[in-house]
This record gives sequence, C-alpha cells and structure tokens, in this order.
Amino acid sequence: MRSPFVAGGPVMRAMAQRSWAQGEPLVMTELPTPTPRAGELVVEVQAIGVNPVDWKMRSRGPLRLAARLIGPPPPVVVGIDFAGVVTAVGAGTRVRVGDRVVGGTNFARKQRGSQADTVVVRDDQVATLPEGFDIVVAGALPVAGVTASMCVGEVGRLQAGQRALVLGASGGVGQLVVQFVRHAGGSAVGVCSTRNLELVRSLGATAIDYTQGDPLVEARAHGPFHLVIDCVGGYSGTACRRLLARGGRHVMIAGETVGEALNGLVPPFTSKLVLGRPTRARLEPVVAAVASGAVKVRIEATMPLTQAEAALARSREGRLTGKLVLLP
Ligand SMILES: NC(=O)c1ccc[n+]([C@@H]2O[C@H](COP(=O)([O-])OP(=O)(O)OC[C@H]3O[C@@H](n4cnc5c(N)ncnc54)[C@H](OP(=O)(O)O)[C@@H]3O)[C@@H](O)[C@H]2O)c1
Repeated sequence: MRSPFVAGGPVMRAMAQRSWAQGEPLVMTELPTPTPRAGELVVEVQAIGVNPVDWKMRSRGPLRLAARLIGPPPPVVVGIDFAGVVTAVGAGTRVRVGDRVVGGTNFARKQRGSQADTVVVRDDQVATLPEGFDIVVAGALPVAGVTASMCVGEVGRLQAGQRALVLGASGGVGQLVVQFVRHAGGSAVGVCSTRNLELVRSLGATAIDYTQGDPLVEARAHGPFHLVIDCVGGYSGTACRRLLARGGRHVMIAGETVGEALNGLVPPFTSKLVLGRPTRARLEPVVAAVASGAVKVRIEATMPLTQAEAALARSREGRLTGKLVLLP
C-alpha cells in the first residue's frame, strides 16, 4: 500500500513516528525525497550513529519542545549523525555526486533526522571522507566527535602541557575528549566506574573510580586542572570549579541547570556549555584526527535501522562504552 505521506515522485524510507505524541512507535515509513535546492545535497545514508539526543528528542523536555516548535512537521524522524554517498546536488555546492561524506542533520533548518536511507542537508553540514575511511566509524563521529573536539579546543582552549579532568571518560563523548586532550599535548585524568578503569587507562588517562568514593575529592590529588569537562551531568559545578587552576575552565555538555548556564555568562566566565552541532569546519579536523590514527572510535555494535527503537533503548540505559551505529 502506498504511504499516505507520498503523493508521487522519488521516495525515501525512514524510521518515523506519526506524531509528537508520547509513546508513538518508530515505524519504517515511505516519505517523499526532497529535491535539493541551491546549496543542498542528497546523501544515500550508509551509517547512522546513535546519540542520547535522539531519544531525548522523543521524551518530554526542552529538546522535544524545541524540535516541535522549530523543526519540520510530523512524521518525526530523529537522528543527527550520518555518513554516506552524495547522490544529487543543488547549484553551488562544494561536494560532488559520488563523494563520501559525513555530517549531521539540523532540525532548526527544518530538516528531518538521519534515521533514514536518505538525508537532504546543506553543503556546510558535511565534510568529505578520505579514501579508505571506515563508513561505520564515520557514522559514529559527528555529534560525539565535534562535541569532544569543541570541549577541548574551541571552548576549552587547552594548551600543550596542561591538565584536564574528564568526568564520564568511558562514554561516547568522554572517550573522545580524553583522546583530544592527549592529541592537543595535554594530560588527562578520567572518572569512570570500576569496569571501565582499564578502558580509560588504555586511552592514556589516569583513571579514578567513581564507585570508590567522591571522585572530585580524589581528583584534588591530581590537580589543579586547566580544564574540567563534565560529560555526564549532575556533577556539582561549584565542586568542579574548585578544582580549576587560575584561568581554568569548567565545560559542561549535559544535565546543565539554569544556574550553571548563567555562571558562564558572568565574569570570570568560568563555566561553559557546549552545543556540539556538526558543521564542515568542525568536522574536518575531527575526521583528520581519526584518519591519522591519533583518535580512535570504539564501536559497541552495529544494528539494522529497523532496530532503531532497541538502539535508542540501549543508549537510554546510559551504560554504553562505545558507539551504536544503525545500518539502513
Ligand atoms: N551538549 C552537547 O552537544 C552534547 C553532545 C553529545 C552528548 N551530550 C550529552 O552528554 C551525555 C553523554 O553523552 P554520551 O554520548 O557520551 O553518552 P553515553 O555514551 O551513553 O555515556 C555513557 C557512559 O557514561 C558513564 N557514566 C554513567 N554515569 C557516570 C558517572 N556518574 N560518572 C562517570 N561516568 C558515568 C557510563 O559508564 P558506567 O555506567 O560504567 O559508569 C557509560 O560509559 C548525554 O547526556 C548526552 O545527551 C551532549
């Protein structure tokens, strides 16, 4: 039976929910493929990284509200990360048909999410992949890689020889943060649970087990830090700032309270929120760092796109030590 959303023309398939109603299931759905306008490109998606933002966008909260207000109308397709091959371009794009690209969708531009076999995005949202770059690794990179790189460089401004404390060092973002710290010539102390101590050490960090006492108290012995990065949320901002060296920064990516966010807006601007939106300018150095072998991405599992619901449930449990990647 023809999908009710398709009137004619080219058709794509996406895991979609019919409306924003809570508990609406994701169903493989046929949708019309948008024709690329000037500056846009069509990508045949080959790998889709899963991020907590994907399930947060379906749950009650600020992300879902924002996506409802400014995103495209239902059916709702979640997912940001994608990697694949360009199949069509509008006028004036830098990339060409046949290029392998990696990028992130942007609902603020009225784009549907990436949990689909096709995405249509603007040229400045993708980076081209070097030959031989693993497409599954590429699919896992956009949000986690860009966020981690911003925490250390663009926002964290870590210099060679400086020290960073990474809270949540075993997670998708945290593992990359540790490696970007090392790549920048810094040293890292990573906070994780007992089962992940060896993993965090293997990335070149000193590991602190948060199950054995207050990790922020134990971290004092390794500080002061030029950068404290909270990749978990829920760690006290005040306690994090106490660990900083003069001029140091406290960077948060999750669980921010309004109070903590305001702290970054008043002198001495110590706390910063990072919003890891993938753009070409941010993706290119991340892709280069992975291509050079300086940064490695741990893949927990690949799953068929039809199992998106199960993948989101696994992410939601919050215990992953590698990226989940969906394959259309
Ligand atoms: N602002 C942004 O742009 C941005 C971008 C990406 C992600 N985020 C947010 O950042 C958070 C992390 O994302 P992610 O993709 O890295 O998630 P993830 O891969 O699901 O992270 C899970 C990891 O966190 C560890 N963990 C859980 N509780 C912890 C604690 N109290 N202390 C230290 N480690 C702990 C878990 O290991 P154990 O359970 O063994 O400890 C697991 O390894 C999410 O809330 C996500 O929404 C924000």
